[in-house]
Amino acid sequence: MKPSIRLADPDDLDRIDRIEAASFDADRFPRRNLARMLAGRRTRFLLAEASTGQGGYLALSFRTGSRVARIYSVAVDPASRRQGLAEALLEAAVELATARNCHVLRLEVRASNGAARKLYDRYGFRLHDTRIAYYEDGETGLVLEALLELPSCPVIAEHDP
Ligand SMILES: CC(C)(COP(=O)(O)OP(=O)(O)OC[C@H]1O[C@@H](n2cnc3c(N)ncnc32)[C@H](O)[C@@H]1OP(=O)(O)O)[C@@H](O)C(=O)NCCC(=O)NCCS
Repeated sequence: MKPSIRLADPDDLDRIDRIEAASFDADRFPRRNLARMLAGRRTRFLLAEASTGQGGYLALSFRTGSRVARIYSVAVDPASRRQGLAEALLEAAVELATARNCHVLRLEVRASNGAARKLYDRYGFRLHDTRIAYYEDGETGLVLEALLELPSCPVIAEHDP
C-alpha cells in the first residue's frame, strides 16, 4: 500500500524534530529553524506515515518570482526506512511544485550519500553544479535538479538567474 502523505503544520514540530535528529549527525536543522519554517509561508512540509517508526518528512521551499522549487530536506526515521516513504514524499513534492507552476526541482546532497543519490537518480535528478567544501566538515555538495513537466507547457531547459 502507498504511504499516506499530508501537509504538516506547526503542531508537527516535535515529530519532525525527532525524525531530523534520528537521521542526521551533522548539518541538521536546529529545532528553532524548523519551528520558524513551519510557521512561515515560504516552506511547505510534507509528512509521510509509516506502520513502524515516526515516518518521514520533506521540506520544500518556494521563492517569489522563481520557478525553481528547492527541496531543503528529506529524512525518514530509521525504523520507517525502505518502505517507499521517501519515494512517496518526492512524488508529492513534484505534485506540489508543479501546482505552483515551478519547472525545476533542485536540492543539495552529500557526495558520499549513496542511498539518497540512488533515490534521486531514480527520480530523474541530474547533476546541476558541484560545490566544494559545501558542508561544515568540508565534504563536497552536489546540486541536483529535475525538470518538471507542466501540464500546459513544454519542459523548458533554462535556469533561474
Ligand atoms: C535517503 C532516505 C531519505 C531514503 O528513505 P526511504 O524511505 O528509506 O527510501 P525509499 O524506501 O523510498 O527508497 C526508494 C529507493 O531509494 C534507494 N534507496 C533508499 N535507501 C537506500 C539505501 N540505504 N541503500 C541503497 N539505496 C537506497 C533505492 O533505490 C530504493 O528503492 P528500493 O527500496 O526499491 O531498492 C533515508 O535513508 C534517510 O532519511 N537517510 C538519512 C537522511 C538523508 O540522507 N536524507 C537525504 C539528504 S539529501
